[in-house]
Amino acid sequence: MAIERTLSIVKPDAVEGHHVGDIIKILEARQFRIVAARLIQLTKREAQGFYQVHRSKPFFESLTEFMSSGPALVMVLEGDNAIARLREVMGATDPAKAAPGTIRNLFATGIEHNAIHGSDAPETAAYEIGYFFSGVELT
Ligand code: CMP
Repeated sequence: MAIERTLSIVKPDAVEGHHVGDIIKILEARQFRIVAARLIQLTKREAQGFYQVHRSKPFFESLTEFMSSGPALVMVLEGDNAIARLREVMGATDPAKAAPGTIRNLFATGIEHNAIHGSDAPETAAYEIGYFFSGVELT
């Protein structure tokens, strides 16, 4: 197993819903180590830059509006096989399809208000970590 780093965001819906502590508890119990974290409210432009791979999707406008609507907790998580494992712990994008006990099953209220983001591949993780954190901020 390789030690990897991945970028996670506790999204504005989950911060607003007071689920930050519960989500971090699940992540730490699953052996993810937080190597950087910051609570920020993204500007619309920053949200657009972050999700630029989705810029031609029909949900791009509402996604970036939502992601800039309130504070979000951006984190770099480290652990064995962290990228794929985080996606397992998060559950399916659509909470209606998320397995019982996953973060989205527990806290998401819709496909857009889905509580948490996690990088989907090593290249995406590298881009997304660099989008929010500089090397000296990674402990
Ligand atoms: P995330 O893992 O942050 O990556 C892209 C996001 O787009 C996804 O989670 C969802 O929150 C959001 N999204 C909104 N509508 C859709 C949709 N129809 N299909 C996939 N993702 C969607």
